[in-house]
Amino acid sequence: MKYDVIVVGSGISGMRAAIEAKELGANVVLITKSSPSANNSFMAKGGINAAFGNMGDNDNIFQHINETLKSSVDIGNEESIRIFCEQAPAAVRELVGYGVKFSRLESGKLAQRPFGGSKFKRTVYASDETGPAIMKALYEVIKEYEIDIIKNHMAINLIMKNNIISGITLFDEESQKVVVCEGKSIILAMGGFGSLYRNYTSNVKDATGDAIAIGLRAGLKAMNLEFVQFHPTGLEGTNFLLSEAARAEGGKLVDENGDSFVDELNTRDFVTRAIFKEMQKGNKVYLDLRDVPTEVIDTKLVSIKKRVYTLKKLDPSKDLIPVTPVAHYTMGGIQTDVIGKTSIKGLFIIGEAGDNGVNGANRLGGNSLSQGAVFGKISAYEAIKFANKMKKFNGVDYYDITNDIHLVERLEALAKHVDANALRNEIGQIMFEKIGIIRTEADLQSALKRFEEMEESMETMQSDKPSTIKSILELINVLVVAKAVAKSALLREESRGSHFRIDYPEKDRKFKTNTLIGLGDL
Ligand code: FUM
Repeated sequence: MKYDVIVVGSGISGMRAAIEAKELGANVVLITKSSPSANNSFMAKGGINAAFGNMGDNDNIFQHINETLKSSVDIGNEESIRIFCEQAPAAVRELVGYGVKFSRLESGKLAQRPFGGSKFKRTVYASDETGPAIMKALYEVIKEYEIDIIKNHMAINLIMKNNIISGITLFDEESQKVVVCEGKSIILAMGGFGSLYRNYTSNVKDATGDAIAIGLRAGLKAMNLEFVQFHPTGLEGTNFLLSEAARAEGGKLVDENGDSFVDELNTRDFVTRAIFKEMQKGNKVYLDLRDVPTEVIDTKLVSIKKRVYTLKKLDPSKDLIPVTPVAHYTMGGIQTDVIGKTSIKGLFIIGEAGDNGVNGANRLGGNSLSQGAVFGKISAYEAIKFANKMKKFNGVDYYDITNDIHLVERLEALAKHVDANALRNEIGQIMFEKIGIIRTEADLQSALKRFEEMEESMETMQSDKPSTIKSILELINVLVVAKAVAKSALLREESRGSHFRIDYPEKDRKFKTNTLIGLGDL
């Protein structure tokens, strides 16, 4: 398998990159860990931000830049934010061109709704199914363009020579073997690590931070991993997200007495902490849609109505809906330049997998889908430029892959006696309780210690519940990333954006900087 451009990951960043690369004439492949629809872009239901100003509120690109910067709490990269906000409207128009059916105003213009942390109605939407609407349309384009797709292949490691990318090793779930894909350039768009918070997340199970573990093993640095965004409204006891669309359309957050206790359209970190405080007092918190007109629920909150009934037998027009915050988006990732370029030549990392500074300490709701569309397109252009410069392949020889072949053999043996599922459940619990919404040094240290013990005990663990090789591969990545998150959170002795240290509850100018972690720091 040899390609000009290899794209790993089938969320909006990856699909948009693959489409752009194909349109520019490249020989491109799209590789996915499982199925092309198993990604978090599907989970961003409420909408996609672009400053069209269609709602008569004078929104404009400057305001979008301003609010994105503000939400990043002083550590966002101004240049990547400027590029993103300037290009978001064109990126959304291109999505329309690819067949995405967004909701429209009577005038025919794209409808926009308010989202948390913004004074403007900037979020373009397709009812409360925006992510799925975009992803289904892009997948149709991928098929129409006959872009090669490799499914059920999990990335293991990068192959490079002289700091230039040569390819990537993959674990093929069907054959249970290591395979190699050679490329002149590679775009990793493999998503973040929300699924480390297993049982407390809106994320798909594939979001195990693989790109971050791979990047660290390749000698790159991870940046700002301590910034994990909790979405305020997961449907209690499920992984279903009650989209911010519900609050945008008039839904309220209330306590057990039906009283309001927070501005529900403040930033997510603020709303989440307010809910968490109520929960710590032993109170339950509810989304109240009872005053939202039925026709709004039936046209703009269709999937919420359906799923709330299916999962809880509740009717949003009559019943309060119990909510709990869930890990939703990871702002940190492998450090890149403003457009996703890494220090390994020919390697780009975009979306949640990379960190170009576009979100800083907190992402504005609705920004992720447009970031994927903008930086997916740009990275494809840059990857092709690099591939063209390369002219021939950098080359892969047998010695480049023997380590991974041996690794998989070792994992096959481990899988027979390590219960990956039990460890992942425990990791999820620790991540939520000790590296979650509110953190302390003691909790972070104890989490780190337990992760180290887990790593050490894997060889000797004797479980009668065997695992798959893939789940052990994931577990290894999960433990690397979990340690890196704990270390990053320990290093940031302040509270900023989504990172709240109860022992350092204030923002501290000393920390107006990025946290960087390498494999050697773990
Ligand atoms: O609430 C939501 O629909 C989530 C959107 C996002 O994370 O951008």
